[in-house]
Amino acid sequence: MKKKVYGAILAVLGLFILMQLIPIDRENPAVTLDMPAPKPVKDILKRACYDCHSNETKWPWYSYLAPVKFMIRHHIDEGRNKVNFSTWDQPQGEEKAEIPEEIIEVIEKGEMPTWDYILMHAEAKLSNKDVAVLKQWAATTDKGGERGETGDDETTATNKPTHKTSKDTTLVQKTKDTDDE
Ligand code: HEC
Repeated sequence: MKKKVYGAILAVLGLFILMQLIPIDRENPAVTLDMPAPKPVKDILKRACYDCHSNETKWPWYSYLAPVKFMIRHHIDEGRNKVNFSTWDQPQGEEKAEIPEEIIEVIEKGEMPTWDYILMHAEAKLSNKDVAVLKQWAATTDKGGERGETGDDETTATNKPTHKTSKDTTLVQKTKDTDDE
């Protein structure tokens, strides 16, 4: 009986040690274009999001420790795939113009930063003021920023189905194509 217990403990221990030998890539690829944003916004994103959504990841000591390191690697892969603030000159996993709005959505739902990240990074917890700063930014970026800059002007409003009226258009489309996901 005792032998069996020791055997099991040794097996687990051995597995644990072997796991440590499996390497993970802890690289940070080049920053090709950092997403432009006002400094207060950038400061918040850097503090709370950049470890998973940029190529400026600060790999913590436990990213050297299996099995946690596999989880971390996976989160960073997934995070960068969706939104990578370091490659703003390239297509993102989400529609770029929608990202500011989505950021607010995931923050308000409490999905981001992820709870396990906050557990290890207390500074990543967003205050009400942080959220207000981001909201203000998202509101201006979405309407007046990327989309608005393309020669939006009142006089041509009639022959322009997108841009400013995109919200209404989406609504109409949604009611039309009900099979839309
Ligand atoms: C610990 C790593 C981690 C941190 C920190 C983190 N994210 Fe994420 N994020 C992820 C992962 C993983 C996904 C993809 C998984 C998913 O869609 O649920 C994701 C997805 C997203 C998405 C796409 C959501 C969707 O439904 O497609 C947005 C937007 C986002 N994150 C914004 C943020 C913002 C803003 C912050 C900082 C306030 C942040 N994230 C911090 C890991 C992280």
